[in-house]
Amino acid sequence: MLLNVEHLKITFHDRDSRFDAVEDFSLSMEEGEVVGIVGESGSGKSMTAHALMGLIPRSQADISGKALFQGSDLLAMSRAQLRQVQGKDLSIIFQEPMTSLNPTMKIGRQVEDALRVHTRLAAGERKARALEAMALAGLPEPEELYSCYPHELSGGMRQRVMIAAALVLRPRLLIADEPTTALDVTIQAQILDTLKDINGREGTAILFISHDLGVVRALCSRVVVMRRGLIVEEGPADQVFYHPREEYTRQLIAARPTRKKLRGGGGHG
Ligand SMILES: Nc1ncnc2c1ncn2[C@@H]1O[C@H](COP(=O)(O)OP(=O)(O)O)[C@@H](O)[C@H]1O
Ligand SMILES: [Mg+2]
Repeated sequence: MLLNVEHLKITFHDRDSRFDAVEDFSLSMEEGEVVGIVGESGSGKSMTAHALMGLIPRSQADISGKALFQGSDLLAMSRAQLRQVQGKDLSIIFQEPMTSLNPTMKIGRQVEDALRVHTRLAAGERKARALEAMALAGLPEPEELYSCYPHELSGGMRQRVMIAAALVLRPRLLIADEPTTALDVTIQAQILDTLKDINGREGTAILFISHDLGVVRALCSRVVVMRRGLIVEEGPADQVFYHPREEYTRQLIAARPTRKKLRGGGGHG
């Protein structure tokens, strides 16, 4: 088993209040599996992902449960141990590539970042690996893009740069948190194809997070439906999509944005 999350609970706290962003979340994933988490905005999807990546400061929240990744508990790791895993065996991509990319740094250097942290490869080898990852992420003309800055690229291309950076060390698990939500439907479909392709070629397991069950169904074999920090339904993606057991899941399907709405933008969390 690649990942085994048991009873993850995330409680944010400040001086006078406590709030369970995630109440009880369990999930196991095999090597190479593509699993979706779907749920309305605020249901705890991102916080689940952030907890697995060690991105929630302990000063802000109590986190309990277990998250065994390749046999070690992500929730019990020290910062140093987490750094060893992050970007190398376990990577994450987010919805907004512009906020994750450094606007003043060339694309190539950003894709190579994890190689600098985790390997002692020489500059030439780093570049070769970066170009390889960029090609895998579906970026045309990687050589040319290597010396470009983020603002010279479209939103879809920037997301592909993030995918390349996340994959440069060939992690075993990629967490993708609404990676296509900000993009036009056509670009969205192309990026989903790329993720499918990466999964097929590299065997990278993907935990794909979206508020859109239709998008999740297109990519994932299995889906977990979240609501208010709890799992309300799970099963094979087609079964959940075509024969949902829960009224909440039915509403998620009915609420799928149309093409027109998606083009018009609008935030989904
Ligand atoms: N730093 C924080 N402090 C308190 N509550 C938070 C914090 N971050 C997120 N939350 C709350 O946790 C819940 C789950 O958020 P999130 O995981 O981002 O939802 P989703 O990704 O499913 O839209 C939301 O109600 C959100 O307001
Ligand atoms: Mg979110």
